[in-house]
Amino acid sequence: MNEAGTPFERLGGEAALRALVDHFYDLMELEPRYAALRALHPSTLAGSRDKLFWFLCGWLGGPNHYIERFGHPMLRARHLPYAIGNAERDQWMACMTQALAERGVEPALSAALREAFKGTADWMRNRAG
Ligand code: HEM
Repeated sequence: MNEAGTPFERLGGEAALRALVDHFYDLMELEPRYAALRALHPSTLAGSRDKLFWFLCGWLGGPNHYIERFGHPMLRARHLPYAIGNAERDQWMACMTQALAERGVEPALSAALREAFKGTADWMRNRAG
């Protein structure tokens, strides 16, 4: 593990990141405890999988696939159509935490990623409760 590299490199590059994102959405589809989070998403998750993967590539220090396709992420604005409160934020974090653990992401990197995700997920809330 190259601890000096970007989080993207430390994670294992595009293939490993794609596997993490796919596992995140597989869990969202399968686990009843993420049902409220799943219900906010479109009936098919193919587009969501691609967009989160493209976004995270750049966000973690790899290629800017998302920005090349869609421009500035404007993440909070793009989430405004979805009612996100504490419960939705917590389900997103729990789902991602489970995905990181089950993909075997090494503990120091996993902790750093969870900290970064936590701040972003909290910032995405757009309603009380
Ligand atoms: C806080 C809880 C969150 C909820 C409930 C949530 C929910 C959603 C939903 C329903 C969509 C639309 C999916 C689609 O159009 O297929 C979406 C899109 C997206 N989300 Fe989240 N999200 C959350 C947090 C996050 C976080 C923490 C990140 C990044 C670290 C993120 C990144 C994205 C991206 C990149 C998109 C695609 C935006 C677009 O181009 O339309 N989300 N999210």
